[in-house]
Amino acid sequence: NEKTYIMLKPDAVKRRLIGEIVSRIEKKGYQITQAKLMTLDKKVIAEHYAHLLHKPFYPNLEAYMTSGPVFGMVVEGENVIAGMRQLMGPTNVYEALPGTIRGDYANNTTENIIHGSDCKEAATIEIKRFFG
Ligand code: GTP
Ligand code: MG
Repeated sequence: NEKTYIMLKPDAVKRRLIGEIVSRIEKKGYQITQAKLMTLDKKVIAEHYAHLLHKPFYPNLEAYMTSGPVFGMVVEGENVIAGMRQLMGPTNVYEALPGTIRGDYANNTTENIIHGSDCKEAATIEIKRFFG
């Protein structure tokens, strides 16, 4: 079975949305096989978002991602990497349609509720990074 790394970001945890979002993932038929709450430091955020270090919004992204606990999960299922990206909706929340997780819960491009690996290689690296 394919695996992906999903992370409910600090705004999701603060807004008490863990249960609701986990429920949507389960209703889709995916299985959560590992999960934990954790508080991330700047170093792990710099690794995870290495492709964005040079962007003007990086300091905001770093502050946001270290502002409180995140809920990390390994999610498994057929074609789950692409399937979860579809459930999440696009990065740009103004483009995320109602019915997607970002479309339903996010109104700001930095604070966009959820992360999901974007390809198999990333999924393998991210699962290792957060679950060892
Ligand atoms: P993740 O699942 O979190 O990796 O998001 P993504 O794969 O949809 O997008 P990407 O990896 O390109 O960006 C990572 C995160 O940086 C996004 O989820 C946003 O929180 C933030 N981000 C990306 N692009 C922008 C942008 O243009 N403006 C702002 N303010 N934040 C951005
Ligand atoms: Mg990404």
